[in-house]
Amino acid sequence: MRAAVLEAPNTPVLIDDIDIRAPKRGEVLVRVVACGVCHSDLSIVDGSFPAPLPVVLGHEAAGVVEAVGDDVSSVAPGDQVVLTPLPACGQCYFCTRGQPTLCAVYGASLFSNLLPDGTSPLSRRGEIVYRGLATAAWAEKAIMPEAGVVKVDADVPLEVACVLGCAVQTGVGAVLNTAKVEEGATVLVLGAGGIGIAVTQGARLAAASRVIVVDPVAERREAALTFGATDVCDPGADDPVAMAFALTNGIGVDYSFEAAGQAALIEQGIMATRAGGTIVCVGAPPLEQGISIPMVVGFTATEKKLIGCLLGSVYAQRDIPRLLALWKVGRLDLEGMITQRLPLAETEAALDSMRRREGIRTVLSVGS
Ligand SMILES: NC(=O)c1ccc[n+]([C@@H]2O[C@H](COP(=O)([O-])OP(=O)(O)OC[C@H]3O[C@@H](n4cnc5c(N)ncnc54)[C@H](O)[C@@H]3O)[C@@H](O)[C@H]2O)c1
Ligand SMILES: [Zn+2]
Ligand SMILES: [Zn+2]
Repeated sequence: MRAAVLEAPNTPVLIDDIDIRAPKRGEVLVRVVACGVCHSDLSIVDGSFPAPLPVVLGHEAAGVVEAVGDDVSSVAPGDQVVLTPLPACGQCYFCTRGQPTLCAVYGASLFSNLLPDGTSPLSRRGEIVYRGLATAAWAEKAIMPEAGVVKVDADVPLEVACVLGCAVQTGVGAVLNTAKVEEGATVLVLGAGGIGIAVTQGARLAAASRVIVVDPVAERREAALTFGATDVCDPGADDPVAMAFALTNGIGVDYSFEAAGQAALIEQGIMATRAGGTIVCVGAPPLEQGISIPMVVGFTATEKKLIGCLLGSVYAQRDIPRLLALWKVGRLDLEGMITQRLPLAETEAALDSMRRREGIRTVLSVGS
């Protein structure tokens, strides 16, 4: 099959022929229809997150089931599915405590770029090719564990639904699942790329009273206003912390979401959040970045909460249908987030768009 392959950090991804094996017991072979481009893919390409190489990236995908292995019961060939990089086994310590994104069976695949059994279903001339971010969907086909595909109705347009696979489940989930933002709350969103826009939509779904969105790109700030932002801030012109206080009667926001992937912005979020408020780390800063909390006793005494968020604490089998239902009744805008479509052959051009901060989300059209 054709796939976009990264051979070395900071080199263009190139389209090549690679081999994909048949699905084993409990696995599904999916014909990929569409796959978005996420900054987490770019972070592997530009070396911010080291990954074993060569690797096929792409983890925001939807497609059609082509074949199933033994014991697969929830989907059959011909079914339309949304893929999720973080399936849940439902039975491990974490799943049984309602924390499916920490699943002991499937969680490690996101970082190992291998299947849970430590192998990859991909190869090229007999050599291993890694399964990037537990999906590898910048390719004509993908092997997923059964729990990593969610069946969707035959009339759902897959080239739209694919953005549920990462950006939307992450951003909306950060608000509804991870932070559990309550009606009327005030929210600060740092970053308005695909993830930040989805956080903004989540805040609108949660009926937040103020949603302040910060991004240096004017086009993205304007877009944010159409996805639920009540106020926008250009960090080059105005101080987001001062603005957060000015817009909340000097109290600070109830919730801050870092959605740009810069550790310094987590510190900004801590500053902008009120006593007793919550700062959610959604962005994935480069490995070498950390944060510091000056006068940490102030953090202690103000009872602030700093929490991590992986894939919006998603439970995909519950949340993908729920998000699609919200889309169907017009409360969640998926089409509006997709500002460019390119063929798989132009994956590198799609990465360039993200580097130049153009549009919001690029979706690769892979097959039909
Ligand atoms: N936690 C998770 O599970 C998860 C899932 C998906 C993506 N991510 C991470 O989320 C981050 C965002 O991903 P994306 O695909 O939306 O990326 P993106 O590149 O599309 O968006 C990042 C945005 O941050 C903005 N930004 C830059 N400097 C800023 C500043 N000083 N203040 C406010 N905004 C600023 C950029 O202009 C851009 O619009 C990345 O780090 C990505 O790896 C995390
Ligand atoms: Zn992603
Ligand atoms: Zn589990």
